[in-house]
Amino acid sequence: MRLELKPVPELSDDERRALKALSAAVYPAEVTAASPGRHLKWAPPDYGVLVWDETGSLVSYVGLLVRAGSLDDSAVRIGGIGSVKTHPHVEGRGYASAAIRLATAALNDDHRVEFSLLVCRDHLLPFYSRFGWLDFTGRLFVEQPAGRLEFTINRPMVLAGRRPAPRDGTIDLNGALVTSPRESTADWRDVPLFGTRPGGRRSIVRPSAYAFVQKGDGRLAVVRAIDGVFLPGGGLEDGETPEEAVAREALEECGLVVRVGACVSRAVQFVTTADGLTVEKRCAFFDARIERANPGGMLPGHDTRWLHRASAARALSHESQGWAVRDWTKVRQAPRGRRLS
Ligand SMILES: CC(C)(COP(=O)(O)OP(=O)(O)OC[C@H]1O[C@@H](n2cnc3c(N)ncnc32)[C@H](O)[C@@H]1OP(=O)(O)O)[C@@H](O)C(=O)NCCC(=O)NCCS
Repeated sequence: MRLELKPVPELSDDERRALKALSAAVYPAEVTAASPGRHLKWAPPDYGVLVWDETGSLVSYVGLLVRAGSLDDSAVRIGGIGSVKTHPHVEGRGYASAAIRLATAALNDDHRVEFSLLVCRDHLLPFYSRFGWLDFTGRLFVEQPAGRLEFTINRPMVLAGRRPAPRDGTIDLNGALVTSPRESTADWRDVPLFGTRPGGRRSIVRPSAYAFVQKGDGRLAVVRAIDGVFLPGGGLEDGETPEEAVAREALEECGLVVRVGACVSRAVQFVTTADGLTVEKRCAFFDARIERANPGGMLPGHDTRWLHRASAARALSHESQGWAVRDWTKVRQAPRGRRLS
């Protein structure tokens, strides 16, 4: 067995593929469809513990998060573990136990969290209690796109860190995600910024990817949703590459199977939610070509419109997306040698 602890943004394409295959083996579509948490947006982990067996297969995974939250209104640094899974063929060999021990040691020793939190189904309480996790009987609040929500769908457990694990009280995860100095932010230092950067408070970083999907007549796809008009795309899901996220979103939002091409530009968009939380969307914009329509893959609540580029740039709700469309138009019209892709 070989254990590795890595920042999720630094996972290689092969590691992401292995993680996707592991998730599919542990959570087949019918299991995901019945999961009580399927309607919630889950924060993607900042770090992952990857467990490889002697043949080089990824057999187990634990995700780690670090958040600036609150306990009974005082600010606390809270660690978290999630996305815990072992391939069903190799359960019971100690893989998850080893990964959980490494994850909690990293949260306590490297991130110096006050305590850690996880949520799990009732039948796993005895499993986590082996590692010192305790039942939390207080209230837990989380941030969702629609606002602050009390989390009640399964059981919170807590683990001592720099302070004893709180057994009761109110934990609020609405605070900002603490990005670690080890996370690779260098690539995002010199990109255009849009929206209002938060003052003293740090923001939740949300890697996102969007597509320029063009019809033969040159018009671009934009998606009208309840909260505005956007390019097809959105936040990356656990283990996804930006290219995979773009392909998934084009299908879910527009009912289109697309071939994702080059990354054309990048920008940061700060968005403030109704609760005053700032999200730093790190957006990568991709060329994409329509392969075929698959209306059955579309999720409800989206309406695709086809607009000429200038109208699309004006209609888009995020300034970064309007900028990206204008920039893309310039690049596409530039002499060949100046093209980015
Ligand atoms: C739960 C899970 C991660 C355990 O992975 P694993 O690699 O088999 O775990 P380990 O081999 O390290 O530990 C297994 C030990 O825990 C015990 N165990 C496993 N599930 C348990 C449970 N629900 N309750 C009590 N003990 C449990 C096993 O009996 C075994 O005990 P032993 O060492 O005395 O034989 C794995 O079964 C899994 O991926 N399940 C599906 C996904 C899931 O539910 N993830 C947790 C989300 S919170």
